[in-house]
Amino acid sequence: MSNYSIKSLEEYFQVYRKSVRDPETFWEEIAEEHFDWRRKWDSVLHWDFSKPEVKWFDGAQLNITENCLDRHLQIRGNKTAILFEPNDPKEEAEHITYRDLHERVCRMSNILKENGVNKGDRVCIYLPMIPELAITVLACARIGAIHSVVFAGFSSNALATRINDCDCKIVVTSDGSYRGAKTLDLKSIVDKALEECPQVSHVLVAKRTGQKVNMKRGRDQWLDSLMEQAYADFPAEIMDAEDPLFILYTSGSTGKPKGMVHSCGGYMVYTAYTFKNIFQYREDDIYWCTADIGWITGHSYIVYGPLANGATTVMFEGVPSYPDSGRFWEVVQKHKITQFYTAPTAIRALAKEKLDYVNSYDLSSLKVLGSVGEPINEEAWHWYNNNIGKGQSPVVDTWWQTETGGIMISPIPYVTPTTPTFATFPFIGIQPALMDDQGNEILGNQTQGKLCIKFPWPSMARTIWGDHERYKNTYFSAFDNCYFTGDGAFRDEVGYYRITGRVDDVIIVSGHNLGTAPIEDAINEHPAVAESAIVGYPHDVKGNALYGFITLKEVGESRDRDNLMKEINQKIAEQIGPIAKLEKILFVSGLPKTRSGKIMRRILRKIASNETENLGDISTLLNPEVVQEIMEAASAKQV
Ligand code: WTA
Repeated sequence: MSNYSIKSLEEYFQVYRKSVRDPETFWEEIAEEHFDWRRKWDSVLHWDFSKPEVKWFDGAQLNITENCLDRHLQIRGNKTAILFEPNDPKEEAEHITYRDLHERVCRMSNILKENGVNKGDRVCIYLPMIPELAITVLACARIGAIHSVVFAGFSSNALATRINDCDCKIVVTSDGSYRGAKTLDLKSIVDKALEECPQVSHVLVAKRTGQKVNMKRGRDQWLDSLMEQAYADFPAEIMDAEDPLFILYTSGSTGKPKGMVHSCGGYMVYTAYTFKNIFQYREDDIYWCTADIGWITGHSYIVYGPLANGATTVMFEGVPSYPDSGRFWEVVQKHKITQFYTAPTAIRALAKEKLDYVNSYDLSSLKVLGSVGEPINEEAWHWYNNNIGKGQSPVVDTWWQTETGGIMISPIPYVTPTTPTFATFPFIGIQPALMDDQGNEILGNQTQGKLCIKFPWPSMARTIWGDHERYKNTYFSAFDNCYFTGDGAFRDEVGYYRITGRVDDVIIVSGHNLGTAPIEDAINEHPAVAESAIVGYPHDVKGNALYGFITLKEVGESRDRDNLMKEINQKIAEQIGPIAKLEKILFVSGLPKTRSGKIMRRILRKIASNETENLGDISTLLNPEVVQEIMEAASAKQV
């Protein structure tokens, strides 16, 4: 029997040891006993990090939607699979049973097929958090098409880049979307993006807000009427375990976004197994992850992981602050949520509000609280633990990445004792290593280094779409025979890990990964700008915020600086999206540079964080005199 659900710390150690000593037998047992396969694998694992090439369950055949839908129909057909909670609390929640979901996914599969989508084709999904989003994702998986979900907060430019990168011919979107008190005009964002994407021949439009939109004849169709007419059954396409399931873009420190490619078999096994253990899901639980399906957290822990376990998973359309800051807790009470999974930035924002917002609701249904996306600071951890969990619900601080597909380091609730700010132990099968700057592994505890993973795990991304070389360079060349995460970590005396943050030029703002280079590119497009450098600095709600140091083409430029700042942020919003706007902008006469012309971000980072006592040696700079000027200008701005 495999250890599908871990119940004690002893069992964790025992299973962990087994998963490391004999990974193939371990994962084979899990895969065999808990999933439906059309054909069994020829080999469990084949890997070579120098290429890099990783194959799990090679030769096996399956369809992930048969595991997420069909196999539950007999025993859980009438159980709620997706519980949709709309933006407006006055609008009724929708309970979509496994039977309904299966039927709607089949209808959508037929629609995609009729619109020319075949196995291996890429489908761009640009939808708000409405049921059609999960349905379209699953329909792609059912017909073997590769979904590429783009978060519906990205700008038309960012959308166009992603559509073109993986050459999508079809886009699924909606007329508009609700976000708190705002209504966003999604369809016109798509229309604008498609001016740059001539290959897109079909756009399917879900009706959500009912606002007036332009429908381009021959290209655009309303989804609702197609759904009514579509046939309600669709035999799942048989996929190889290593066939791509989806592409999801994540920001790199340089260049265009990276389309991480995940494959069917290993991803299914690992997301389901982590979901079961890290949320300790039991049959009648109501699980809620507040992420958006536009991010990896939503893919793995709203859609695939929960559904593969036959769980009830909540899809929330709204925001934490609408109609007021009690919204999360109202939903917890209303649906008797048992597991609640959110981001530190949301916790910090809500912790600033009056406790009455929490205390007006009955939160006694909660059993597990989760955190993801960035380090959770001690204060936020305690607030969450004390006020939401009442000290009774373990907080699982889950560390992982778009690239890892599933949770990598996390406590198992009721099993691993929690400590604020520590993601604690590696999950089963995960072999972390801390590396020093010379590329050697640092052994022993009470130590800090760059976080790597030494051995493959089933849900790791297999490549970057269209650029395997970049995949190799980004993740497998910094350290020999290791996957490099880009994060730093500390390991304490018992072997618990604390993630200390990014060690590259990726900045995490409100849980969103932002690369500095694309933002700088956007700023530099402004005709008045000569050069720019972006750094992150600590922000009490967002975790980090962006600080832009900018030089202008005409020194002493007399333009209105406030206006210029607005225009620069407008450029960023157009190129990337409002999430990448700068919190602070400082116009300076020069940026500190090395003699070889590289901008010294380290110095700017210290100035932005107001840590100017110890700037290190600046005498080797090409232009040390600008440092003083920038420091003075920055401190004048603080007051
Ligand atoms: C950061 C989100 C500290 C980390 C699932 C990682 C975290 C990046 C944690 C990936 C955590 C995520 N503690 N840092 N619990 N979880 N991170 O790809 O820097 O959106 O590399 O995946 O978020 O972000 P991504």
